[in-house]
Amino acid sequence: MNAVDLMTGQWLDEAGIGRGQRLLDIGCGPGVVTEMLARRVGPGGHVWGADIDAGMLNVARRRLDAAGLSDRVDLIQAGFDAAPEDAKGWDGVVGRRVLKYQRDPVAALKALFPALRPGGHVLFHEHDMVTADDPRADLPLHRTVRSWLRQMLEHEGAHLNMGHDLHRAFTEAGYKVEKVEARANVLTPDSDYPIAQIIAGVMPRLERYGIVKTGEVDTELLDHSLRQERRRAGATLVWELVFCGWARKPAD
Ligand SMILES: C[S@@+](CC[C@H](N)C(=O)[O-])C[C@H]1O[C@@H](n2cnc3c(N)ncnc32)[C@H](O)[C@@H]1O
Repeated sequence: MNAVDLMTGQWLDEAGIGRGQRLLDIGCGPGVVTEMLARRVGPGGHVWGADIDAGMLNVARRRLDAAGLSDRVDLIQAGFDAAPEDAKGWDGVVGRRVLKYQRDPVAALKALFPALRPGGHVLFHEHDMVTADDPRADLPLHRTVRSWLRQMLEHEGAHLNMGHDLHRAFTEAGYKVEKVEARANVLTPDSDYPIAQIIAGVMPRLERYGIVKTGEVDTELLDHSLRQERRRAGATLVWELVFCGWARKPAD
């Protein structure tokens, strides 16, 4: 588990999401959060992982098969408004790094309403492009890699500060906010947060938008080079601010 997965687990604990529940992981991608949820709900619960991207669902399927958790998970190609009949009455909907990609996040949150039981939770986990380098340190590679991600998100029309908008979006969609919190994803000279894996995952998009040229980036070496840069500068920095907010559908 990386530093952000640990945050996800702690926030799920705090929101009381777990044993015996019926949950949707919206925008499940490769299924990292789906697997965490499937372990939490236990054999008495059930998890639906939904994504619009069939390729991602295949990756998620392999992950859940390998973990021996497929019997308590259904993976569906669907968006926020496409709950299958047998999936209705969710105790909670969880989404990590997905709300910021929605053209209208309030409408997306509203679309979850009918399939959520009264009193059920929505919990969204969004990374903001809020960063803080050590102003004394020279970190050009870190700045470059971050600018690739920022340019990609801008190109896709994503909401770069969705974390700051969580409270407003929940409220406008009709949910009762319980908490919004943020933690820093801090990189030290020794951190092993997998930035190269993230860049490798989005490389087709970076190349398609002309942000990097094909073959320009060696993702095998990237984490090593970033760590070397932090070590040389003795630098600790805030790579990103990670927000999580949760709210309930009113019980009446
Ligand atoms: C950045 S990935 C995050 C994956 C996963 N939640 C995680 O944190 O590991 C965003 C995912 O959301 C999916 N997605 C974007 N918009 C969606 C929508 N309207 N409905 C379902 N999935 C969506 C994308 O296909 C992608 O797999």
